[in-house]
Amino acid sequence: MLAAPMYNPRLSYEENYDHGPFGAFSHPLQSPRAGHPRFSFVGQPVGLPFGIPAGPLVNGKYVKAALDMGFDLPVYKTVRTRAYKSHAWPNVLPVKFEGDLPAECLRLVVGEEYEEPLSITNSFGVPSMSPEVWQPDLAECVRYAREGQMVIGSYQGTLPEHGGGVREYIADFRLGARLMRETGVKAVEVNFSCPNEGTAHLLCFDAERSVAVVEAIREELGELPLLIKIAYFRDDAQLEQLVRRVGPHVAGISAINTISAEVRDAAGNQALPGEGRLMSGVCGRSIKWAGLAMVSKLKRLRENLGLSYSICGVGGVSSPEDFAEYRAAGADAVMSATGAMWNPQLAQEIRQAEQVEEIVA
Ligand SMILES: Cc1cc2nc3c(=O)[nH]c(=O)nc-3n(C[C@H](O)[C@H](O)[C@H](O)COP(=O)(O)O)c2cc1C
Repeated sequence: MLAAPMYNPRLSYEENYDHGPFGAFSHPLQSPRAGHPRFSFVGQPVGLPFGIPAGPLVNGKYVKAALDMGFDLPVYKTVRTRAYKSHAWPNVLPVKFEGDLPAECLRLVVGEEYEEPLSITNSFGVPSMSPEVWQPDLAECVRYAREGQMVIGSYQGTLPEHGGGVREYIADFRLGARLMRETGVKAVEVNFSCPNEGTAHLLCFDAERSVAVVEAIREELGELPLLIKIAYFRDDAQLEQLVRRVGPHVAGISAINTISAEVRDAAGNQALPGEGRLMSGVCGRSIKWAGLAMVSKLKRLRENLGLSYSICGVGGVSSPEDFAEYRAAGADAVMSATGAMWNPQLAQEIRQAEQVEEIVA
């Protein structure tokens, strides 16, 4: 049975921002602390290496509720260096699909209800408040975290309103890194599964450009751990190229983001209103295979290339068994967006299952 989601898809992004979180996240009970942190992620001590990736935690109220509910690695939603509007409502819809979603473009139909096994599409356009709003909000979350918890800040580059090219694009990543550092976050994730300025592809598919961006960011971050968030790679050689070039300069790699598909209503029309929204990112149960596959590949590459980055596994996690499966595949940390949105108790369930494992072992 799915619980009331913390982010309500029936409301606009702005309504969720102002009035959320909802369901159990609206009155979180502080979960009991479990001794000293036993795990570490990107060099930091962590109680339970489980969290919520960039997206559902749209501001500090959501992040603090997640911390209270035992998600020890919450990521504050991806922000930008300037205010940016959300796509029009609806932004989240259920999709009808059971099984493993193929990685190549597929036509999907929206469902009427949110039901298990749950897959959804999300389409926001990465909205952001201005740094004047998100910087103090994020800084407060960092102070709120208890021992063994780490709030991660996520951002991506944006061209200035008057336009620009690759130089301005990279300069904005640099500026974003500085703004992040000023908040006091203990780790920064940069979204590389975002459009690559001047091309039709994602940034993570361009190893050369990715290195240039990482170098610019590193100059601003210094020793602060940097994670990159990447998409599913169909081409193993392309992934190896990225990891070879970028792997030595980052503390962690998070995978995956959503898998894109055509999303239509029952009559065959585009389901999400507006230009450029026919193709939309799908997440939840049907992409778990892809997240697991990427974790295995990243682990193998780390060994083969003698690197030391932490691996954060994301995609389709909705139960303690999914968490264990990701850990067994090589994930140092695991995160759940869709699963956690509809199950606020997920971190506590995983904690209990882990304790049972320990007693049995
Ligand atoms: C409501 C929602 C908003 C999201 N927004 C972002 C975002 O701003 N930045 C990002 O890197 N990923 C974003 N994602 C992708 C998630 O971080 C995650 O990579 C993806 O949903 C797969 O995990 P899941 O199957 O557990 O949902 C979003 C996902 C959801 C459900």
